[in-house]
Amino acid sequence: MEKKLFGAVLVICIGWFQAEAMTAGFIKSPLSQMKLIEDNAELDCEVIGNPIPEVQWWFIEGEEPDEIITQLFDGAREDRVHINATYIDHATSSLILTNLTFNDTGVYECRASNDPDRNDLRTPPKVKWIRSQANVIVFERATIMTSPEVNNATSATLSCNLTNPSSPIKGHYWVKNGKKIEESYSTNTDSYAEHFIEKADYHHSGIYTCVFLTEPQANATIEVKALPHIKASKSSENANEKDKAVLSCGSQGYPSPTDWSWFKLPDAGERTPIFNGTDDKYEIKSTPNKTTLYVKDLDINEDMGFYQCQGTSEVGTGTDDIQLRVRSQLAALWPFLGIVAEVIILITIIFVYEKRRKPDEINDDDDSGSAPLKSNSATNHKDKNVRQRNSN
Ligand SMILES: *[C@@H]1O[C@H](CO)[C@@H](O)[C@H](O)[C@H]1NC(C)=O
Ligand SMILES: *[C@@H]1O[C@H](CO)[C@@H](O)[C@H](O)[C@H]1NC(C)=O
Ligand SMILES: *[C@@H]1O[C@H](CO)[C@@H](O)[C@H](O)[C@H]1NC(C)=O
Ligand SMILES: *[C@@H]1O[C@H](CO)[C@@H](O)[C@H](O)[C@H]1NC(C)=O
Ligand SMILES: *[C@@H]1O[C@H](CO)[C@@H](O)[C@H](O)[C@H]1NC(C)=O
Ligand SMILES: *[C@@H]1O[C@H](CO)[C@@H](O)[C@H](O)[C@H]1NC(C)=O
Ligand SMILES: *[C@@H]1O[C@H](CO)[C@@H](O)[C@H](O)[C@H]1NC(C)=O
Ligand SMILES: *[C@@H]1O[C@H](CO)[C@@H](O)[C@H](O)[C@H]1NC(C)=O
Repeated sequence: MEKKLFGAVLVICIGWFQAEAMTAGFIKSPLSQMKLIEDNAELDCEVIGNPIPEVQWWFIEGEEPDEIITQLFDGAREDRVHINATYIDHATSSLILTNLTFNDTGVYECRASNDPDRNDLRTPPKVKWIRSQANVIVFERATIMTSPEVNNATSATLSCNLTNPSSPIKGHYWVKNGKKIEESYSTNTDSYAEHFIEKADYHHSGIYTCVFLTEPQANATIEVKALPHIKASKSSENANEKDKAVLSCGSQGYPSPTDWSWFKLPDAGERTPIFNGTDDKYEIKSTPNKTTLYVKDLDINEDMGFYQCQGTSEVGTGTDDIQLRVRSQLAALWPFLGIVAEVIILITIIFVYEKRRKPDEINDDDDSGSAPLKSNSATNHKDKNVRQRNSN
């Protein structure tokens, strides 16, 4: 019993002692990386300890005897160095290097310590810093010669010619609008890549990128531009008199239109442009790939007819037409009035018919011909049922 109690007290004491002081230890160390000039690099470091350790970043240039060691601060190297640190529960610190230059190549060291004397310059031998290093190597951006951009063409062959690979080429592939084209993947070690586009229409237009599998990867982009493909969301629209009509058109293809306009098409002659905000009648709302025309307070004579949306990009212009049908306000009533009329007619017919048949009513009851007819039909049904069951 006493031994157990003693054990428990010991465990608590050790726990308390551990909580009280724990030397710094890495739980995440920075990773070495190869980067292209003008890219960004991020080095992460996480340290535990009690008290929470302080984390510093140092840069080591050159070889052992002549090496130059400098501490890195937020905003160093003309504000291309950023340090993002948090000291909650444990220490995390990220060193972010932006717009890399060749001079950024070197060894980066994450140092951590929670020794109370760590920054006391008079007692350096006592102070313990733990260290973790990573290499950052900055390469020259590969030169890739691309075929000229494709503009309003029928077919096209895109090509990339890599002239100074940073490492052996293991293959290449193509990307369209940020999405890898799976079938373009090749393990060919050539420094030349081609992609054929059968029909350079709006569907195939976009931003193409050739990617060479080198270390680090090298890429270049080629723009394939096509006429905008303008399409109305609905080719005809119905609306009621006095209401508001909403007509809209979208554009597909690259690049998107830079200008949208709307026109009213008369039965004959020139189309008339519609201006945004005219007489509170028209309102136009446009985004690069969509335009919407609101026609308010619809008039059956004025507003009925064909409208045209037009999108213009640097490549050219595309249009589509929409038919607007305006129903009279009474039109909505017609079906209801029709039903009412139908009911009235039916009631009248029945009434007149009943009146006329009144004298025959007694005869009708006496008529014995209808009873056998009924039973006949009943037996017919039964027969049918039986036959069906048999066939089953
Ligand atoms: C610093 O880190 C925080 C949290 O991880 C993040 O939200 C913020 O964007 C970072 N700042 C920079 C400059 O990277
Ligand atoms: C990156 O640095 C180069 C010079 O080294 C400079 O010309 C360029 O404008 C910088 N880019 C950014 C995004 O700061
Ligand atoms: C790189 O360092 C050298 C020598 O230290 C210096 O002359 C040069 O201007 C630096 N280049 C850049 C891009 O910082
Ligand atoms: C790629 O470029 C190099 C250097 O400009 C040239 O010699 C070579 O013929 C080109 N390759 C192709 C397939 O065009
Ligand atoms: C092309 O290279 C740049 C810079 O290295 C990179 O940011 C980008 O993601 C790459 N694009 C593709 C499609 O691989
Ligand atoms: C228009 O662009 C938006 C965002 O840019 C996109 O979500 C949408 O699919 C595009 N619509 C068409 C018809 O291309
Ligand atoms: C039309 O006018 C409205 C309101 O004045 C405005 O919100 C809208 O952006 C305008 N549309 C265009 C295409 O200029
Ligand atoms: C684009 O091609 C179409 C037909 O191929 C032609 O009608 C149009 O004029 C061309 N546009 C430009 C800007 O070259």
